Amino acid sequence: MDTARAEHTAVVGMGWGDEGKGKVVDILSPRYDAVVRYNGGANAGHTVRVGEETFALHLVPSGVLHDGVTGVIGPGVALDPGVLLSEIDDLKARGFPVADNLKISDRAHVVMEYHKLEDRLSEGAASDQTRIGTTARGIGPCYADKMQRGPAVRVCDLLAAAGSGDRLESIVDGKRRAFQALYGDDGGLEAGSIARQLAEHAERLRPFVCDTTSFLHGVVEAGGSLLFEGANGMLLDVDHGTYPFVTSSNTGPWGIAAGAGVPPQAVRNYVGIVKAYATRVGSGPFPSELHDETGDRIRTRGHEFGTTTGRPRRCGWFDAVVIRQGVRLGGITEIAMMHLDTLSGFDNVSVCTGYRLDGRLLDTLPADSAAAERIEPVLEVLPGWQADLRDARSPDDLPAEAIRYIERIESLVGAPITIAGVGPERSQILVRGSAVLSPTRATVD
Ligand code: GDP
Ligand code: IMO
Ligand code: MG
Repeated sequence: MDTARAEHTAVVGMGWGDEGKGKVVDILSPRYDAVVRYNGGANAGHTVRVGEETFALHLVPSGVLHDGVTGVIGPGVALDPGVLLSEIDDLKARGFPVADNLKISDRAHVVMEYHKLEDRLSEGAASDQTRIGTTARGIGPCYADKMQRGPAVRVCDLLAAAGSGDRLESIVDGKRRAFQALYGDDGGLEAGSIARQLAEHAERLRPFVCDTTSFLHGVVEAGGSLLFEGANGMLLDVDHGTYPFVTSSNTGPWGIAAGAGVPPQAVRNYVGIVKAYATRVGSGPFPSELHDETGDRIRTRGHEFGTTTGRPRRCGWFDAVVIRQGVRLGGITEIAMMHLDTLSGFDNVSVCTGYRLDGRLLDTLPADSAAAERIEPVLEVLPGWQADLRDARSPDDLPAEAIRYIERIESLVGAPITIAGVGPERSQILVRGSAVLSPTRATVD
């Protein structure tokens, strides 16, 4: 594969999700031939604002709103056919037909009704200490079956077995007995109705399904370029995140090779997305969390309510410790900092620069989440700014305090902040020497 001709790029969340990946992918995608999802599933909710219209995309890659860009759902995605098909219907109804511009991997794993049921049952049975606070989209149970292999259903199985159901019947029977034993509830699972629905979904999905790995290799060999759209965030990564309060896939750049079938050295630019503060939805450690009216103010100003579940997001100060770790882990080449506008109006803003735990200073998160929950953040206080930034379009439009905030964070995390978001619209960004977005082409209409 000749990787020298095209500069492939990855956009990955560096926090606990919802950093603004959808917006950045939407802005970048006209420069690429294909936008590729490689991990996660409908737990993702990527918002794209086009004028007055808001699109919340769960499975369809955020680039498909642009002509000439192919959306690809790779082998590493947990695909819920019902969610995907209603997303396709919704896009069509709103004037964005999805046809040849979407390719679905025949190797992707299918999220089944019983995965969503198991997600709900296991969360319902968990204690306040052990409940993960999942999105209830069946992600964990689907990936668990993938690893176990026996009960897994892939897109290719769906197409081959549409209409027939012997294997499905035995899987559903096993699930029913396991759920009854574990939770005293089999959810009324019925193989026949599951099979009928799958058969319907399979026929509608069939035209989109192909070997996406070969398709991507073909794009690269023809000199085209790829944009990878990470779902969730690095701190939710199953290996490097705040386990067990994580999702069940590799969310960071290291997930791309496995989840899309493109070798790691092919990708030149790794754009890490952060917010100017931190948010988290669901349970788990969050050292810089604010439990006071400052946190409430950030939530209100930033409209911090989940795109997928509508849950209020927990809010806190920017955590330079975890983002520095993410820069190292992910080989991040530049950072896009969204929601700079949300931090306007504070007298002071703080950045978490280290952790205190049992009298010791730490510069990374401990593996043990119970210990991480007890961390006290070390905060550095910086002067805030009052100006409304929503109309800022160049670094020159920013107050000195906002520049100082950006520069301080750059030096703490070890990567340049080349893009800043100042509102949800495509046009509401400013660019500071980005390798992926030159100022002359900063916006799309
Ligand atoms: P994703 O999952 O990473 O794509 O992020 P979400 O779409 O779940 O959440 C990000 C939210 O912030 C969405 O409502 C976006 O429209 C919004 N947003 C993105 N960038 C900015 C920004 O720079 N400023 C403001 N105020 N909102 C933004
Ligand atoms: P995007 O792509 C925010 C969180 C859930 C929960 C944990 C496990 O929009 O940034 P799961 O349903 O994956 O088993 O939930 O991970 N989570 C997200 N939080 N944004 C997301 O995606 C998320 N995907 C998963 O809230 O804490
Ligand atoms: Mg989201």
